[in-house]
Amino acid sequence: MFPSVKSEFLKRNTVLTSPCTAISLYGTHLREGWFDLFRGGDDHLFGWGCRSWGKYVGDVLTNVDIERSLAHEAVMSSNEKPISFVTPGASANPITGRALAQARGISNWLFVVCFMVFAMVVLGGLTRLTHSGLSMVDWRPVTGWLPPLDDAQWMAVFELYKQSPEYNQVNLGMTVDGFKGIFWLEFIHRLLGRAIGLVFALPFLFFMVRGWLDRRIVPMLVFFFVLGGLQGALGWYMVKSGLADQPDVSQYRLTAHLGLAVVIYAFMFRFALRLRHGFDSVRPMIAPGLIGLRRYARVLPFIVFVTLLSGGFVAGLDAGFTYNTFPLMDGMLIPGQLYDGTPAIMSAFEDIMTVQFNHRWFAMATLVVIGIFWIMSLRRRLGVAQRLAMHLLLFCVMAQVALGIATLLMVVPVALGTLHQAGAVVLLSATIYALHTIEWGHMSE
Ligand code: HEM
Repeated sequence: MFPSVKSEFLKRNTVLTSPCTAISLYGTHLREGWFDLFRGGDDHLFGWGCRSWGKYVGDVLTNVDIERSLAHEAVMSSNEKPISFVTPGASANPITGRALAQARGISNWLFVVCFMVFAMVVLGGLTRLTHSGLSMVDWRPVTGWLPPLDDAQWMAVFELYKQSPEYNQVNLGMTVDGFKGIFWLEFIHRLLGRAIGLVFALPFLFFMVRGWLDRRIVPMLVFFFVLGGLQGALGWYMVKSGLADQPDVSQYRLTAHLGLAVVIYAFMFRFALRLRHGFDSVRPMIAPGLIGLRRYARVLPFIVFVTLLSGGFVAGLDAGFTYNTFPLMDGMLIPGQLYDGTPAIMSAFEDIMTVQFNHRWFAMATLVVIGIFWIMSLRRRLGVAQRLAMHLLLFCVMAQVALGIATLLMVVPVALGTLHQAGAVVLLSATIYALHTIEWGHMSE
């Protein structure tokens, strides 16, 4: 009576880890062949279809029976060996075999690159907060990986720096030893950028030659590489804005540089998580009760990203060095001179008070939105990994808000400012991970 799930199962290399996956396979049949109503794959209709279908199936068989029978059917008639099965709630990953091992190898490699990008973001914050970012006044992407090696070379780069507005307006009279102090951080920041390029490109070529890269993921990897190159160029474009007349980089360019780094990180992190399940894994059908939560979870990375960008403007305008009280600003909850510029909207990017005000309240909104999400999640039946991901997310947002307030009240000490920047990326990762666990259910455990 039921359509054959065996062929579907094998074609998709999907593993049945929960009743929901089983229902999802049947739901896929419904969508793809049986009822035109389901064409287009609207989640709501599809969810409804699966709900009804699941209820019907549930009347006939218990959940475990569904799994067992499908598993049995697949194993009995399959010549392929890689499949094992887990019962609901078990935490072993069920797929084994060469393709999965390769996908996981690539995923591990991307996690390493992600970690390096994260370190790069943190180091970038430290470089900015220690006023080291304008110490190198030229950019030699290929040949510039060696630091000055003797006194003559140090004098040469110092002479170049002496022509910059930062030296003349801020550091006049600085000695070469003082210059070395600010040079190293910027140098290491750039060196790490090159290292990321190598750690990305060399294994990429190696995997290509060994034939480990599934063709479908190559465009995405090339896209990451291009974005990485663009990020380097954007970094130099930002530094250049601080070498012209004023020794301050443009807040627009700084935010763009921070934003692009985080975009690269976020896409790569999500992609690496997904590759844990293989190259051509199909996302399991979500339990109907989690559809709303998933929709909500999809918005969270964007909300955190907007707050993060608004933080970039605070940093770029040094707006954290004034109005160092919370929650009041200038003695008021909503200060009078907000959006005073012409046109008013430009104040959101150029007026210190408005920029800081926006960042505070974007952050509070982020806290509230994630808090509501967490409360919603309490009322759902979740697996262990999912539940942990929700708690982790709540913890991250609370810690990040606390760090932000401490950074403000203590007038941006270097350590706290750097930690706050790192916290923003950790929080973004927590939103992506929460979304991932909701989407992949038991398979993410
Ligand atoms: C969801 C919460 C938050 C996120 C995601 C976030 C993110 C960020 C980011 C990415 C930066 C730029 C850091 C840099 O470029 O060095 C920043 C800067 C800053 N944030 Fe937040 N922030 C949050 C909450 C807060 C809160 C609640 C406050 C205070 C009320 C705050 C105060 C600051 C200050 C003062 C800076 C400037 C620090 C500097 O000059 O380095 N943040 N924030």
